[in-house]
Amino acid sequence: MERDVIIACDFSSAEATLAFLDKFQGGRKPFVKIGMELYYAAGPDIVRQIKARGHKIFLDLKLHDIPNTVRKAMAVLSSLDVDMVNVHAAGTVAMMKAALEGLTRPDGSRPLLIAVTQLTSTSQETMQKELLIGAGINETIVKYAQNAKEAGLDGVVCSPLEAAMVKDACGKGFLTVTPGIRFADAAADDQVRITTPARAREIGSDFIVVGRPITASPDPVAAYNRCLNEFAD
Ligand code: C5P
Repeated sequence: MERDVIIACDFSSAEATLAFLDKFQGGRKPFVKIGMELYYAAGPDIVRQIKARGHKIFLDLKLHDIPNTVRKAMAVLSSLDVDMVNVHAAGTVAMMKAALEGLTRPDGSRPLLIAVTQLTSTSQETMQKELLIGAGINETIVKYAQNAKEAGLDGVVCSPLEAAMVKDACGKGFLTVTPGIRFADAAADDQVRITTPARAREIGSDFIVVGRPITASPDPVAAYNRCLNEFAD
């Protein structure tokens, strides 16, 4: 899949999401990310509706359970014909392999499967003192990415500033999907480790996930096109 911009559709209802996507009619159909809030509020039907409008979908549900449960849940998500899904790498290599099995359709096709390494909301201090993970956070991220690669996954979600480290450890073809994107002249909001679309491209991100810089913009289509110009074209 080509380098692309994914819009994080962090809306709480199907109506708000579809009204937002209406703005893109007639132009390029953005790749969209649907997260837990929207999926739990609007159910699988919102996935079918957005797919029917011609968008690619990253279903960001971050599965983490016993391998058998994840295998079966992934088979259901795969039948929704989404383009990308994810799991927590902390679920182990066995769980990630089961996820891949569940996703693979009878004809051998499947959505891309990526892993969350450590959430960017988890600090090294919390990881070590609360979760009793003794290694450093970067070491953990690299090891979890290597585990994901060993399980046969396509890549990881990480901060754009970690993308180079992941590519060094797992190879250029291992995908990095990176949130934490802001325009050079914009506010950071609650994001900490951020960079611009242009810099994310230089570092080696394959997909940038952009929410508020597009969804909260007075002109979302212009903001999306600016991301595409800086990152993808
Ligand atoms: O609005 P903003 O551009 O900050 O949105 C980023 C999106 O990426 C949100 O949907 C957020 O939940 C998600 N995300 C993130 N950091 C991670 C993983 C996901 O910001 N480590």
